[in-house]
Amino acid sequence: MKPLIVANWKMNPLKRKDAEVLFRRVYKGVMNVNNADVVICPSFVHLPILGALARATSVRIGAQDFFWENAGPFTGEVSAGMLQNCGATFVIIGHSERRLYLGETDTMVNKKVRMAVGSGLMPVICVGARMRGREAPKIIARQLRAALAGVVPARAQNIAIAYEPIWAIGTGDPETPEGAVNVRAHIKKILVSLFGVQKGGVIRVLYGGSVTAENAGSFTGSHGAGLDGLLVGGASLKSKEFADIVRAILR
Ligand code: 13P
Repeated sequence: MKPLIVANWKMNPLKRKDAEVLFRRVYKGVMNVNNADVVICPSFVHLPILGALARATSVRIGAQDFFWENAGPFTGEVSAGMLQNCGATFVIIGHSERRLYLGETDTMVNKKVRMAVGSGLMPVICVGARMRGREAPKIIARQLRAALAGVVPARAQNIAIAYEPIWAIGTGDPETPEGAVNVRAHIKKILVSLFGVQKGGVIRVLYGGSVTAENAGSFTGSHGAGLDGLLVGGASLKSKEFADIVRAILR
């Protein structure tokens, strides 16, 4: 199983030109890496240009969100097919910022997950509690079971889960590698209970929240805690740091 490193550019950068330059720099930094899947998730408006640029590269493109219907009267929304026509093969679903600011619920997340797996987009499903503590595993289990309701085992290998504790996002205070690996085990157990050992066991579980070039290797790679990849926010906007993160997890 190759590690999966996903860059979530969130609502950055402002200009198309800057997105293009950042993509080219990132690509230059990771172009010799072939034992990891590297995915960049720009804003919707930069997807067409990045999708075109990425076509000739090993870097894959993902969206940060989408809608659960194919077409119709859904003002402001974007469908799976539209994303795929722009070259996207991945989509982040249920990010805590969408749950917090856009009112995204477990039910909405589930509809998106089912649409993604049905249309061949690989969902990166985000789960994580607001606070540290005893409630966190229960919240994660609820989010995960709700997100995956109705997904058949045959489609399960086309899914990735990102453990993103909300308190660690953008704070410079990451989860400990031990904490992340414990949550990975908790998530894996649920995945195996839902999909069986063979299908559930191969689903990649990523960590996200204040990942930097300095701490990336402690979560992943042969010397790391055993996570299957990373979901990177702020540090993915710095091309050199992001390339260092990718290389760190391959050590
Ligand atoms: P930071 O890496 O900026 O903490 O963001 C994490 C995140 O939310 C990625 O989806």
